[in-house]
Amino acid sequence: MSVSVFKLEEYLSKYEFCAPYLLCCSDAESFSMQEIINMAELNEKSLWDNLKLSYTEATGLPMLREEIAKSLYPTLNASNILCFAGAEDGIFCALHTIAEPGDHFIVLTPCYQSLYEIPKMKGAQITEVALREENNWRIDLGEIKNAIKQNTKCIAINFPHNPTGQVISQQELKDLVALCAVHDLWLFSDEVYRLLGTPDEGWAQPAAEIYTKALLLGVMSKAFGMAGLRVGWIACHNKELLKKIEQMKHYTSICNSAPAEIISLIALKNRDKILFRNNKIVTENLKLLDVFIKEHQNLFEWVKPQGGCVGFVKYKGHEAIENFCEKLVREKGVLLMPASIYNHESSHFRVGFGRKNMPEALEKFKEFL
Ligand SMILES: Cc1ncc(COP(=O)(O)O)c(C=O)c1O
Repeated sequence: MSVSVFKLEEYLSKYEFCAPYLLCCSDAESFSMQEIINMAELNEKSLWDNLKLSYTEATGLPMLREEIAKSLYPTLNASNILCFAGAEDGIFCALHTIAEPGDHFIVLTPCYQSLYEIPKMKGAQITEVALREENNWRIDLGEIKNAIKQNTKCIAINFPHNPTGQVISQQELKDLVALCAVHDLWLFSDEVYRLLGTPDEGWAQPAAEIYTKALLLGVMSKAFGMAGLRVGWIACHNKELLKKIEQMKHYTSICNSAPAEIISLIALKNRDKILFRNNKIVTENLKLLDVFIKEHQNLFEWVKPQGGCVGFVKYKGHEAIENFCEKLVREKGVLLMPASIYNHESSHFRVGFGRKNMPEALEKFKEFL
């Protein structure tokens, strides 16, 4: 099994902990552990105080799985939820389980690299269906339909989308599900940015609620801003498949971190409060960024993001975007992410607007310009 370098993670590990102004983050502002503990009701406080630091259940703490289903996917229940050490562990275990040599996968690109790299590791053939700027980075069902082959097993999507911040409408999702159903395909729906942002058209339903062969990926990292917990999950109707995926997890993380499960439980019980604060930051930052881009139309252009906390900006200057980003981080400590990190041949860069200090980072960017 040959493993390709994960360009995005490699790039972030070079800069994330030394650049002072992260203007390409893909997560919302975090909370301190104390802030979350202070939100706990008596029951959860007692769970926290008496927590033993032993192994936990491989599928995830039952109370946590119940809460994930109840607060995020009300038509599902705990038995439809399998927890992981972050979303990445979920992608690995799920796609590694589904993909077999000779299978064909359709993946919308640009995208988070593991969505095509993991099936490729298993010997699956990949067709990348490109999201296009001239189509506002929206899903094109016709192109997906044309890409389906006899041996197609799965379509992988990610909305709200990293890096463009575009979303899928309820109708688009329904049409995609109908297409998957006709061809008996799995739909891997990476929804890690769901509930962050306020899409004009509202949120499409979670894919696992409307399609029995959907594997929905969720996580505490993005909208909740708790990436350090490393708690993610797959929601799916098909319990047989979940069992097989759990068996793969026995070879990766085995189980979740005990403290992280309790903190996630408390956070989910306070879902509205946490999402309200994070969405306020995202909405205000997005307004500032949109004004900034309009004020610098000679240099930049974008399709304004609809969901999540990242956007894909076209740089219209003459310099290579990698040089531009490199100079910016060296001179001002402001980190952007060039399109090449996504294997996207363009002059775009990813910008992130989930963090509280984004206005400050933007000021530094302006100084640089
Ligand atoms: C689309 C997408 N999926 C999955 C992940 C992995 O999330 P986690 O860090 O929680 O494992 C990321 C992280 O950036 C992402 O952007």
